[in-house]
Amino acid sequence: MASALRILFAFVAIGSCIAADNIDLWPMPMSVSHGTQKLYVKKDIAMSMVGSMYSDEKAILKDAFQRMVNLITTNHVVDGINRSSLVLTCVNIVVHSPEDELNFGVDESYNLTVPTTGDPLYAQIEAQTVFGALHALQTFGQLCYFDFTSRLIELNSAPWIITDAPRFPYRGLLIDTARHYLPVRIIKGVIDAMTYSKLNVLHWHIVDEQSFPIEIPSYPKLWNGSYSYSERYTVSDAIDIVRYGEKRGVNVLAEIDVPGHAHSWGVGYPSLWPSDSCREPLDISNNFTFEVIDGILSGDFSKVFKFKFVHLGGDEVNTSCWTTTPHIEGWLNNNHMNVSDAYRDFVLRSQKIAISHGYDIVNWEETFDSFGDKLDRKTVVHTWLGEDVAPKVVAAGLRCIVSNQDKWYLDHLDASWEGFYMNEPLKGINDTKQQQLVIGGEKLFLTNPLTLHWLEERLWTPTEKLAKDPQSVTSRLARFRCLLNQRGIAAAPLAGYGRASPSEPGPCVRQ
Ligand SMILES: *[C@@H]1O[C@H](CO)[C@@H](O)[C@H](O)[C@H]1NC(C)=O
Ligand SMILES: *[C@@H]1O[C@H](CO)[C@@H](O)[C@H](O)[C@H]1NC(C)=O
Ligand SMILES: *[C@@H]1O[C@H](CO)[C@@H](O)[C@H](O)[C@H]1NC(C)=O
Ligand SMILES: *[C@@H]1O[C@H](CO)[C@@H](O)[C@H](O)[C@H]1NC(C)=O
Ligand SMILES: *[C@@H]1O[C@H](CO)[C@@H](O)[C@H](O)[C@H]1NC(C)=O
Ligand SMILES: *[C@@H]1O[C@H](CO)[C@@H](O)[C@H](O)[C@H]1NC(C)=O
Ligand SMILES: *[C@@H]1O[C@H](CO)[C@@H](O)[C@H](O)[C@H]1NC(C)=O
Repeated sequence: MASALRILFAFVAIGSCIAADNIDLWPMPMSVSHGTQKLYVKKDIAMSMVGSMYSDEKAILKDAFQRMVNLITTNHVVDGINRSSLVLTCVNIVVHSPEDELNFGVDESYNLTVPTTGDPLYAQIEAQTVFGALHALQTFGQLCYFDFTSRLIELNSAPWIITDAPRFPYRGLLIDTARHYLPVRIIKGVIDAMTYSKLNVLHWHIVDEQSFPIEIPSYPKLWNGSYSYSERYTVSDAIDIVRYGEKRGVNVLAEIDVPGHAHSWGVGYPSLWPSDSCREPLDISNNFTFEVIDGILSGDFSKVFKFKFVHLGGDEVNTSCWTTTPHIEGWLNNNHMNVSDAYRDFVLRSQKIAISHGYDIVNWEETFDSFGDKLDRKTVVHTWLGEDVAPKVVAAGLRCIVSNQDKWYLDHLDASWEGFYMNEPLKGINDTKQQQLVIGGEKLFLTNPLTLHWLEERLWTPTEKLAKDPQSVTSRLARFRCLLNQRGIAAAPLAGYGRASPSEPGPCVRQ
């Protein structure tokens, strides 16, 4: 998971054509039909829940609705006078399930209709769960514009009939708070940005070699490994982030990367290091190592991070400290293990600990490459090195998340948006049963928190509706990127190399 920065010069030509049917939605829904009528949206448009089985006690819907209204009215004063009778006054939301426990595999489908007749005139959202309704509100928000003639919010091309559901249940984005600390406010902003494009898993790579920013009450000296006294998260901060995500339909996947990438653990507890001069990977011969892993995953942690999965890393393990440290070398000999056996032993012991706390496990692909047949069947293998691994993982009957670094690492500045768009998670997997084991994909930004939105269509939209030629979605994507900018997200231009700032003055959609 190293973050090599290869800056090459890749020029991207931006077409100026308008999408044939003028549907400005990103990602494209499963099925869309529309007409030609212009409607106005009442400035204080209301929400109702007539026919809903859901009580919205936590105000998930009510707050989401208000956020959507704020988004569509935020940049201009809506002070026009309504002279039309075609005014949308309300959105009625029908949620069939009373449950609002967010987790992996929750139903996210929805229907959205915007009619042109009715008195009062209202849009209708129908969803199995509140989380499908949240996606519907995002789609609705993308249909609304400020109109400079009427100075009202308008909604064009009605009536709309949209039926939608995600292609994959896991649509992730990785943030790394160990290489660069991210303040809670920034993390919440990332979660907001994710909802705009219907991503649903924030993969929080919390700790690494460089720093251990999070509080672990059972081992309070672990966060002595933070960069500084202030670059830390309390347990309450973590709860705050997880709750913030839950209210927005975004799960938080916590990652504790062992046994490599764990140098920072030993700042507070030096006995976790093989020795003072050789500090990584964690000392396998010391039972204290596993007590600490157990201590991290038990108690508060598993109550805070309630997502079905915990990520245990397992990548880039350089075992040389295990053979060069005499007491570990002795332990290996006593246990008749070489370092490959020991690496496997470490990962499998950690998996057992996580499972005992109720988790399924995600591990980086090196664990599969080294001893795939020994991994617990609850393992989801997270690929990052290349695109040929996923077919092997699913052929072995394990689940898989695809993040090959050549395509979906946001800090590889030479990777073009076309490459992101065309990267197909099911490439090389023809068997339908095996395809279902690919639970989704994830884009990673390890060093550079640019928020980019190029792959969500591949993870959301049905294959048959994905563009064969990325150029045909350029203008729609460019308009979505401008929408993000209007909403305060620093989404980078499509054109130019290394996602640098625009080279020339010009309109947003041409950059
Ligand atoms: C908009 O204006 C029309 C005509 O003036 C009026 O009948 C209608 O009630 C108004 N609608 C709203 C939502 O204000
Ligand atoms: C959406 O509408 C279709 C067709 O009427 C229906 O089969 C489906 O159950 C609806 N979906 C939801 C989430 O309500
Ligand atoms: C860890 O941090 C605490 C409080 O900040 C400090 O008192 C203690 O000396 C530190 N321990 C180590 C091993 O750095
Ligand atoms: C460490 O744990 C192993 C496995 O639980 C156990 O067999 C062994 O006796 C323990 N070693 C020490 C020194 O406690
Ligand atoms: C592994 O770690 C040792 C000791 O820290 C170092 O000398 C060696 O270069 C590392 N190997 C690789 C492949 O990084
Ligand atoms: C480690 O030992 C196993 C047998 O226990 C053997 O299959 C493997 O090749 C050995 N690996 C190395 C790197 O020596
Ligand atoms: C999958 O199908 C494609 C196209 O039909 C074919 O080229 C490829 O060889 C197949 N792969 C496997 C693993 O069967």
